[in-house]
Amino acid sequence: MAKSQNRTNMPPSTPGRSTVAITAAATAASIASIASLLYYLDIPSLLQQRVQSRKVVESRCYSLNTKPSLPEFQILTQQITLPETYPLASGVEENVPIYDCASFDLTDASSTDKLQDELHHNLTSGPGVYILRNFFADATVIDATNRAFEEIITREHEASGTKGDHFAPGNANARIWNAFSKHALQDPESYVQYFSNPWFKLVCDSYLGPGYKITTQVNIVRPGGKAQRPHRDYHLGFQTDEDVVAWPKAVHQMSGLLTLQGAVAHTDMPLESGPTRLLPYSQTFGEGFRSYRRPEFIEYFESNHVSVAMRKGDAVFFSPSLFHAAGENTTANFDRSANLIQVSSAFGKTMETIDSLPLIDKTYDLLATKYRAKGLSMEVDAFIRAVAEGYPFPTNLDCRPPAPGGMAPESEQQILRRGLIEGWDRETMMSELGEMREASSANGKIGRHTTVFGT
Ligand SMILES: [Fe+2]
Repeated sequence: MAKSQNRTNMPPSTPGRSTVAITAAATAASIASIASLLYYLDIPSLLQQRVQSRKVVESRCYSLNTKPSLPEFQILTQQITLPETYPLASGVEENVPIYDCASFDLTDASSTDKLQDELHHNLTSGPGVYILRNFFADATVIDATNRAFEEIITREHEASGTKGDHFAPGNANARIWNAFSKHALQDPESYVQYFSNPWFKLVCDSYLGPGYKITTQVNIVRPGGKAQRPHRDYHLGFQTDEDVVAWPKAVHQMSGLLTLQGAVAHTDMPLESGPTRLLPYSQTFGEGFRSYRRPEFIEYFESNHVSVAMRKGDAVFFSPSLFHAAGENTTANFDRSANLIQVSSAFGKTMETIDSLPLIDKTYDLLATKYRAKGLSMEVDAFIRAVAEGYPFPTNLDCRPPAPGGMAPESEQQILRRGLIEGWDRETMMSELGEMREASSANGKIGRHTTVFGT
């Protein structure tokens, strides 16, 4: 009782300044920790997703009547590439990660898996471009290929004159369209060596997954050859502004995921010869396909692009959504030569038509010799993936139903692999592939390829 009275009679306590400060700090810390937790759990995105899933809040397409935001583009493209983000890179030059192929052991699967993670992250969330030094460690492969290219260029020039370049009109450039096929037919030996390079598989798989299809074009820029205008590449990069806005926004993102863009340096490429101009991080800009022709974006590109010198045998790979342009060759007497590469997802349409059967016909004996020497080596596997179709669709499911327990009929690559293992000669291989192609066509006849499963 006495204790109670004493307590009642005590004067009310007033908090001192330090108590108020401590309380305020504790409150601030609590709010910060709650905010951090919400951020960590990605609650804002979840709430946004809920709103989006319940309400049609925006148009599915971009509009020609609104301007893409240059400030947003600037913020995205002013990001800095941190070396810590890409620990397997040998360095970062001009915001572009550089890898030295000579420093990797391709038989070490855990190391190459980590490398593929870095390459994938780069193109989807990072700068959007990387350079592989020593992509071709053996210069003799490039030299032999260059001789084949020169013969093709001479023959085509005599037959039809200069060919155009859609981004840099004029006659300074020499161009071989569909070099992928012409190379095989011109010089199968160097072609097999070139596309047996296991780095093609590692790089293509990392961005596109299996079943990719390679197409290439040669571009030789003579002294005085002007720079290209900045652009994005295939698919939506090859359409007008009016056409581009007809495709829903999600398809704009998809377009950049359907193709891997690249180039192998077939000569050294010092800066004065005009290696590709690049704008890192520009592939992350949502409205890029309808922005690259706008004067303010061109001006920004011209003031902010970077270039990295390359040596013969190096390669550059980048997202087709990256703003880029071939540079100007300001040298007096140096031809800059590159084999341009687009690799198409199995789910996309290639830019050029590749008929793989004549290419397999021309190279099968060389491939079989390689197989007999070393079995299904990384080189043999890389070449099979480059030369043959890895995706069995579209097909005729009446004639080519999925195998029991499988989801798809056999692909060209699987037939090629099977033929090598079973020791088929070239005639047998071509006959099997020919029958497969006939059975796959819309006019295929239900015959010996037909097996009916189930009821
Ligand atoms: Fe391009």
